[in-house]
Amino acid sequence: MIAQFRNAVLAAASCFCLAGGAIAQHKTISQRVDSLMRLMTLKEKIGQLNQYSGKNVTGPVTDRNVNMLSDIKSGLVGSLLNVKGAKDTREIQAVALQSRLKIPLLFGLDVIHGYSTVFPIPLAESMSWDMDAIRLAAEVAAEETAAAGVHWTFAPMVDITRDPRWGRIMEGAGEDTYLGERIAKARVLGFQGERPGGINSVMACAKHFAAYGAVSAGRDYNDVEMSDHQLWETYLPPFKAAVDAGVATFMSSFNTINGIPAAAHDFLQRKVLKGDWGYNGFIVSDWGGIDQMIHWGYVADKYDAALKAMRSGCDMDMVSRSYLENLEKLVKEKQVAIQLVDDAVKRILYKKFELGLFEDPYRFCNVEREEKAMSNPRHTAAALHVAERSIVLLKNEKQLLPLQKGRQKIALIGALANAKRDLQGNWIPNNDTSKVVSIYEGLGKYLGRDANLVYVKGVDVKGADTSGIGEAVAVAAASDVVVMAIGETWDMSGESKSRAELSVPGQQEELFRRVYATGKPVIVIMLAGRPLVFNEIADKAHAIVYAWWPGNEGGNAIANVLFGKYNPSAKLTVTFPRSVGQVPLTYNGYKTGHPLSSSPNMLYKSGYIDMANTPRYAFGHGLSYTSFAYSELQLSKVSMQQRDSVILSVVVTNSGRYTGEEIVQLYISDPVASIVQPMKKLKGFRKLLLKPGESATVSFSISAHELSFYDKDLRWIAEPGRFKLMVGSASDDIRAQADLTLL
Ligand code: BGC
Repeated sequence: MIAQFRNAVLAAASCFCLAGGAIAQHKTISQRVDSLMRLMTLKEKIGQLNQYSGKNVTGPVTDRNVNMLSDIKSGLVGSLLNVKGAKDTREIQAVALQSRLKIPLLFGLDVIHGYSTVFPIPLAESMSWDMDAIRLAAEVAAEETAAAGVHWTFAPMVDITRDPRWGRIMEGAGEDTYLGERIAKARVLGFQGERPGGINSVMACAKHFAAYGAVSAGRDYNDVEMSDHQLWETYLPPFKAAVDAGVATFMSSFNTINGIPAAAHDFLQRKVLKGDWGYNGFIVSDWGGIDQMIHWGYVADKYDAALKAMRSGCDMDMVSRSYLENLEKLVKEKQVAIQLVDDAVKRILYKKFELGLFEDPYRFCNVEREEKAMSNPRHTAAALHVAERSIVLLKNEKQLLPLQKGRQKIALIGALANAKRDLQGNWIPNNDTSKVVSIYEGLGKYLGRDANLVYVKGVDVKGADTSGIGEAVAVAAASDVVVMAIGETWDMSGESKSRAELSVPGQQEELFRRVYATGKPVIVIMLAGRPLVFNEIADKAHAIVYAWWPGNEGGNAIANVLFGKYNPSAKLTVTFPRSVGQVPLTYNGYKTGHPLSSSPNMLYKSGYIDMANTPRYAFGHGLSYTSFAYSELQLSKVSMQQRDSVILSVVVTNSGRYTGEEIVQLYISDPVASIVQPMKKLKGFRKLLLKPGESATVSFSISAHELSFYDKDLRWIAEPGRFKLMVGSASDDIRAQADLTLL
């Protein structure tokens, strides 16, 4: 052992790291990890489980006295978050290489919707239902992130949510589990590439495990109270999809689940994730998630916190130092078995080997490569491509859109029409607006010499000042058509940005009211990180385009949509309520024993005395400039055995005047079941591009899997009986249906 150690030290002189020299290259990664483990002291092992944050903080700072560099040199740090850039990561990696074993650091960062090239927020991207586009966005983000010396993104967030009050709705893929699974896979593959360790890829992180999207009252960091069948049926499947796609890491969530904080959730982390699902990556806590269990009242102190988190399978401690300060003692006092610590360390070291960091710890730290990656025109084109596909056309009265180039005098109104930072949205790693195209610029560029465009702000996004409305009204009155940008500033949705009201902020609705009163046609572009409630605008505006926070290319994408260069194809992946009082509202809610549809004379119905139960805009809704007709629904057979499958097909025809894309949606309902089932569940979709007059046959294969649910004993089963298969253009626009009997 001593000889081996000496050889290793000698080898280190010619090799970047001692561990790299010590461990023969021909061995498998597991063997190399084991060899390295044999060289490590308990303290060094615990160091690998410790993550610090660099300069930028993305959570509450509790300990300002940490000497980060000296701890890195002493081998007490395994990973850093919030350090980026080829130069900075190289400098800090060099410090790690001064530690006894020279184990390289892992650099992690929240790259949520782009690094330098900012893409639409993840929720917006989900509206595309386009897995290639979603994957492309993650690939580009990974390429830039990896070039900036960062190995690991804390994305994708795969939390299903049905609550637009929760600010983090912007980071996810919406309310539906099936779509959430597909998007989780696309994002993981996009970030990670086909194989681990690619030079243009980063490790992904499925977060936040689990059920964070169901926080009580939509308040961030709150508790989650949830039935088993909801957890299994709705919230866990996207995490499982991430595991199946090979996700390298997981992050536990801040919430409790039925009273147990996620970071100490033995059942979810050890039994389900690492046990039943066979996950072999590592789990990092969320920011301070381990010692925050003290605030929850779940543990008395950091010693207890480290004990509970380690026992229940949390491998890396993000910033709380609970492991660093307590694990050694816990092992010595036999509270924590060394095997648990070893297992956690191995999982982390494995990833470092996989990334090639032991061969070359500076692999990702190349300043020239970084510069090139950040100015790649292909990335800008990708951001435009994805943004166009993320914009939802909610309303288009009398086919007001698309606008004709050069024909009209356009009044462009609203603070957001001239904004840049707000187009990027929350959660971006670089505060650089130099590459952002505002709506004003996008329209101006699109129209070129034909531009007959006057911009006026009217009012700020927030605040009570209405003094600019008069000027806006005058400009509107002198125009042929008005385009208004209305919505939220970039910091109104996101982490810790829950809202009790979903209303349009400030005086923007008043501005709309007064501009609308001019009698001019009004097109409203909504920009936000969540579904807002905007009933008056929804009733009156002649056209509404929901552009979310569309990223750097937002202005160009919006111009292309308004003028029909891109025919909008996105559809809602979240339900838009009429009022915050209806929340949570989802397309796949339940029937009740007191249905609203019952006899008009029946008084006792499940509804509101002051509002409809229906949403403002349903899940799956989204218009195109063309129209689509559905016909010839066919089912290969009307009944099937458990092991069988049937093919459902339908012919979709572009019945309008423009080439366009339709998202054909398959829903299934199980009218009688041993656990009451949602009214319908999405079970398939296809996105089709059709020219005017063109038809295509869309087929779905349906097996018992699509008919199954978790029963009261949490078995995934399909119960014999009759099922309804529905194909449509939205969850509330079913065009054809058939019955299928499972024998
Ligand atoms: C967030 C995570 C994020 C982490 C690191 C936390 O506050 O909940 O999503 O990855 O900070 O920035």
